[in-house]
Amino acid sequence: MNHITPYKTRLTEQNQSAEPISIAHASSLRVLIVDDEVSVRKVTATVLAQIGLSCETAAGGDEALHILETHSIDAVISDLRMPGMSGMELLAKVKQIYPRMVFLVVTAVDDVRVGIQAMRQGADDYLVKPLQVDANIVLASLTRALHVKRLEQEVENYRHHLEEIVAEQTGQLREALRQIERSYDHTLEVLGAAIDLRDSPTAGHSRRVFLYSIEIAKAMGGLESQMRNIAMGAWLHDIGKLAIPDAILLKPGPLTDEERAIMQRHAQIGYDLVKGIPFLADAAEIIFAHHERCDGSGYPRGLKAQETPLGARIFAVADTFDAMTSDRPYRRALPFHASREVIERGAGKQYDPQVARIFLSISDETWEAIRRETAAIQAFAFATASDIQALGKMVKSGS
Ligand SMILES: [Fe+2]
Repeated sequence: MNHITPYKTRLTEQNQSAEPISIAHASSLRVLIVDDEVSVRKVTATVLAQIGLSCETAAGGDEALHILETHSIDAVISDLRMPGMSGMELLAKVKQIYPRMVFLVVTAVDDVRVGIQAMRQGADDYLVKPLQVDANIVLASLTRALHVKRLEQEVENYRHHLEEIVAEQTGQLREALRQIERSYDHTLEVLGAAIDLRDSPTAGHSRRVFLYSIEIAKAMGGLESQMRNIAMGAWLHDIGKLAIPDAILLKPGPLTDEERAIMQRHAQIGYDLVKGIPFLADAAEIIFAHHERCDGSGYPRGLKAQETPLGARIFAVADTFDAMTSDRPYRRALPFHASREVIERGAGKQYDPQVARIFLSISDETWEAIRRETAAIQAFAFATASDIQALGKMVKSGS
């Protein structure tokens, strides 16, 4: 059945073979007609109601906005030339408040360019009045525009879904990386324990200097990004000793010059062992330089002052402190104050003066707490699983 409407549409002009429109479908559409001429509103509403559209009417932009606020509307059909708020102004407001709203504009037959301009500004179609054509043409325009909106919504939903998938997979990847990091930490923990077990007279040494170095680095401040490297360098500093023969490593008496030369190779050996592991590359530099001294008297390269990586300069103080405050087969552990004096005297000679100053500012209670903790762990010969996890957290947080 054909009904008469005051409008024909641009889309129908372009495509007379438009897909058939379901009248049943139309019954669910709610349309707001905006026109300052009451006769146009009435005729349009009557005609559209005959094909099943549910219509509201408004005499101007302000009333239209109020109806949109208070009613559920699928589409707006608005005149462009109205007193007060123009159709273009209403279009801009509706698009801003209801970006998914279908908006058709109505133009005079001699003002088609305005209709095109309206489409450029977001209108979904334009209708030309007052030609008399099939009302289904209006319905076709509406349903087509709604179809486009639905597709846009589906694309938006799909994009949102993709973002959720990406976010989920990124989370899974991060968790996988965390697990890998934990695996690294466990492996390094075992390596450090193996070093200490090999060199039994210094049991717990790697762990203590690891913790001492972290404590000094924390007190220095601004080293958060290097904390992990400093910690790993301290932890693995003597890994090269795994290659030193027992007869030399465990010799109870003084070493001969030749034996000492072999022993001193552990810095280079440790560096060579670790340098090829990307995430330990910086730690390898600390391992290489952990016996260097501020005045150039260290080995293997005789580096001076700032030539030595900061992590190795920190380690040097931590190492001396641990050596002096630990029992040795040939002497008892020295008290903290004695080791403090040695480090104070050695500032600017063996030890970096700034590192030494920071070390001396840390209380005995702090060092005592670390020693108590490591002493408890030594009872198990090497670190427990919970200890490993605590270390991992400490390194990650830089605490
Ligand atoms: Fe060493």
